[in-house]
Amino acid sequence: MGTSLNKNIFYFVYFSFWACLVSCSSNTFESNSTEKKHLDLYEPSDLANTMRDMALDMESLRFKVNSGGLTIIDIDKLISSHSTMSTDEPTDRKEIQPSFQLFSNIYIEQLEELKTIILKQGEIREQILLFNSALTTCVSCHREHCPGPISRIEKIKI
Ligand code: HEC
Repeated sequence: MGTSLNKNIFYFVYFSFWACLVSCSSNTFESNSTEKKHLDLYEPSDLANTMRDMALDMESLRFKVNSGGLTIIDIDKLISSHSTMSTDEPTDRKEIQPSFQLFSNIYIEQLEELKTIILKQGEIREQILLFNSALTTCVSCHREHCPGPISRIEKIKI
């Protein structure tokens, strides 16, 4: 009788030990997946991705604009890829001000104007002026939304 009680206690402790190990490892499993969810939160939004491309595009065209080598194809590419900014999902919709759509429209209109000037084979000086104006619109929108990239944007101006 005594030994079978001891045996029961032994099994109880033995199985509790394993039950604990299993639940602990399932805990680590859970914390792994929450960690992953946390990482997902840091994935850039569609808008942030578009903005990164916009910055790279403008930086890489800077020299071309300055030397008068800008083409209609360059501008068409900018217009089609940058205009998604008006519908891209931002990181935090609550932070988007009513002025966002206005700045976004002005920016695209300035690219359209730049295209018109190239079509008319306008002066390089005029092209530079519009390139810089478009960048000023980037800065104006950033003053109201996220000031972080402003100095980077200012550096692209010619
Ligand atoms: C209509 C407003 C608006 C205009 C115009 C605009 N931006 Fe932005 N930009 C934003 C907002 C809002 C964010 C934050 C996006 C987010 O976190 O989802 C942003 C984010 C960025 C970022 C940071 C992206 C990241 O890594 O998180 C860069 C760089 C940037 N913009 C560059 C530019 C450049 C260069 C231009 C012009 C060629 C420009 N922006 C024009 C509103 C604008």
